[in-house]
Amino acid sequence: MKIEAAGRERVGDAVNIPIYEALLEYCRERNVLLHMPGHKGGRGFTLSEFQAVGMVDFTEVPGLDDLHNPRGVLSEAQRLAAEAWGAERSLFLVNGATSGIQCLLLALGEESRVLLPRNAHRSFLGGLVISGARPIFVECEMDATLGVALSVRPESIRAKLSSCSGIKGAFLVSPTYYGTVNEIKEIAELLLEWEIPLMVDEAHGSHFIFHPGYPRAALQEGAQASVHGLHKTMPVLTQAGILHLGAGFPWSDRVQACHGLLTSTSPSYPLMASIDIGRATMQKHGRELLEQAKERTERCRRRINGIPGFVSRSWEFLETDGVAGYDPLKLLVEITGLDLDGYQLSRLLREHYGIQVELAGDNHVLAMFSPFNRPDDWDNLAVALSDISQRYAHRSGARNLFPGFPPIPPLAFTPRESFLSPHKTVKIEESKGMISAEMAAPYPPGIPCIIPGEIITAEVVEYLIYLKQNEIPVQGLQDRSLQSIQVVNV
Ligand SMILES: Cc1ncc(COP(=O)(O)O)c(C=O)c1O
Repeated sequence: MKIEAAGRERVGDAVNIPIYEALLEYCRERNVLLHMPGHKGGRGFTLSEFQAVGMVDFTEVPGLDDLHNPRGVLSEAQRLAAEAWGAERSLFLVNGATSGIQCLLLALGEESRVLLPRNAHRSFLGGLVISGARPIFVECEMDATLGVALSVRPESIRAKLSSCSGIKGAFLVSPTYYGTVNEIKEIAELLLEWEIPLMVDEAHGSHFIFHPGYPRAALQEGAQASVHGLHKTMPVLTQAGILHLGAGFPWSDRVQACHGLLTSTSPSYPLMASIDIGRATMQKHGRELLEQAKERTERCRRRINGIPGFVSRSWEFLETDGVAGYDPLKLLVEITGLDLDGYQLSRLLREHYGIQVELAGDNHVLAMFSPFNRPDDWDNLAVALSDISQRYAHRSGARNLFPGFPPIPPLAFTPRESFLSPHKTVKIEESKGMISAEMAAPYPPGIPCIIPGEIITAEVVEYLIYLKQNEIPVQGLQDRSLQSIQVVNV
């Protein structure tokens, strides 16, 4: 089956896409629109591309249900989603996976101890500030060559459970941005012994369930909740996500209440309808499409591994402790023998070959494929890399780029206490011993070396100075020039 054909078929099929059907029905009624939104069915948009979106951008009028009290099409669409992903209850998100993570953290309650991997996405910080929960961080397994986190070992979790009491919930990020999947089954079983629910930030893994040759989804592996950023890997509009609550999740009603609290009272129907359509598309065609995309990506990976100067790992990721699998559609290109860094490679690909990759790091770029890429896209990447390999000077030996990462500093305040306290600005060189009011996360590895509430250690100061001297991009600090840091004014 051709991907293009699948796209056209979808709408004609109109099976099990209740939100879309209700929107179409409402359009067909041709009502006089004396309600929100102000663009009145897209007529207010001057650009024709937007008019089409506007035609289905309605709000909570009779027949279209209410996300805050779903009893009609939205309830049915959420039920269908729960069925597709094997959840007990699924809640639609219109502010990305970010809001699902925040709901789960808020539901834990103030001062609750929560186990978090140090590679938690920055949306966790917002969740910690909103909830007042107290993070207990678990170290990640880093890849020495890439300098990024690939997993958390079950043993690291076991050690934290033995040394810290009163932990109420635990999170993992799986798959990681780079596509590696954790030992979720083993970790979920371990946590179960301590009666701690495992919640997984599966923002990048919503497609796994639709093909048995992909890693198993977190809920299938025993996690009790998972969060999907659907748009990342599925044919769904950006910002649409789902929060899934699995069997035995202990405080579902509270999470639902938090969802009500953190969700707009005007959730976007195009976003929610796209969840419905994306889910139905993948249920109907996903297996075939994912198979084809996997084969094409593997073929492309093999070609890249034959190009001097580049390497693309797949099964080799499994050699890292705690890595149980990887997403076959994440294609990481490591520069092992060219005089070129990842940022330069990314720019070259864009400027000379019309290819935009997902991210660039010091010695790599990450290409993200989906079943909805054109067949040529895989080919174009391999051809471009082959061309670059011939044009650029080769060097021998890998670049050793990464200094040791500082140990996780002690927490003096919760992130919420730190956020709400008065702050002052100090020079980084003079910040040792103070309580940080900011996060600083160099990229890569995207792991914070400090978060609000942690005490700035000598190692952190040294590391921040190293980042400044080497002009390594850092997320989170107000002062982009890395001269100063905000600290709690105690
Ligand atoms: C691992 C991970 N979790 C959560 C998020 C947040 O997702 P969203 O941007 O959909 O809110 C991201 C975003 O990139 C992410 O990479």
